[in-house]
Amino acid sequence: MQLETFKHFPDFELLDSGEGFRLERWGEVILQRPDPQIIWPRSLPAEEWQKAWAIFQSPSGGDKGKWEFNQAIPKLWTLKFNEVRFLLKLSPFKHTGIFAEQAANWEWMLERISNFKFLISNETANTKGKDQRLKILNLFAYTGGATAVLAKAGAVVTHVDASKPAITWANENYKLNNLPTDSVRWIFDDAVKFVNREVKRGSLYDGIIMDPPAFGHSPTGKTWKFNEDLPGLLEACIKLLSPNAKFLLINGYATNSSALALNNLLEDAGKNLDGKIECGELCLKQKSGRMISTGIFARWSA
Ligand SMILES: C[S@@+](CC[C@H](N)C(=O)[O-])C[C@H]1O[C@@H](n2cnc3c(N)ncnc32)[C@H](O)[C@@H]1O
Repeated sequence: MQLETFKHFPDFELLDSGEGFRLERWGEVILQRPDPQIIWPRSLPAEEWQKAWAIFQSPSGGDKGKWEFNQAIPKLWTLKFNEVRFLLKLSPFKHTGIFAEQAANWEWMLERISNFKFLISNETANTKGKDQRLKILNLFAYTGGATAVLAKAGAVVTHVDASKPAITWANENYKLNNLPTDSVRWIFDDAVKFVNREVKRGSLYDGIIMDPPAFGHSPTGKTWKFNEDLPGLLEACIKLLSPNAKFLLINGYATNSSALALNNLLEDAGKNLDGKIECGELCLKQKSGRMISTGIFARWSA
């Protein structure tokens, strides 16, 4: 069991946490956002917390509430991870468009594929028509943080999400990074439906990442329930792994599941896979060194 946090993401910082809030820096913009698990006192003095440009006030500590502003915030601003830029804006549900803790997953995936010699588009044309780039499937892909990072690294990413606005935002992130035109395939669909169709078609992927919510909806309104639907989805995903597959990563947040539950599920579904399975909590580390948990993960690597 591991506590996983990113190594290098200087544009983002968890400055402090306490009394139901996080104090975070997103580029220059400092925000106070509620997080109901934060039941301990703050460590930084009130003057530091007052530097927040905006505070998301929510009676429940959840994502229903509203922003209150101490100073004007740009409608859009950008954040950089390695050479990849993301478009940020305040959403009415306390989010900014990026889950910063995901940078730990991005770093892990980049390490898994770092030995692979990527062929960029122009070179691909010279390889007797055979595209040698790694094929990655990103399920529940949201605004495409992982999509942009992997496409920038030279992979071809199939990006699946059931929300049109999320895909539009992901597309804006893709354009911001001048990625090769054929590096992302956009799929507006239910993740389960799409994966089952891919199994029937005999498609294969060299890496799969999924970050399903506790509850979600397909474009046609069918409900996604983490505990009920994940086992079937995972089993189907294992069938999509190519013989040269490098990784499969399941991330979970706001579920009543545990990292061990994900680990057990992955051990069973992946019993024929060679390699390593590990699990843990995906964390953010604040300036003082304290870690806060933002979710759970289980992952397999070849
Ligand atoms: C919070 S996001 C995941 C965050 C993402 N991994 C990231 O770091 O940017 C969950 C996403 O799942 C999508 N979603 C919910 N139900 C879905 C379904 N049945 N099929 C596909 N996507 C779904 C939502 O639209 C949302 O974009």
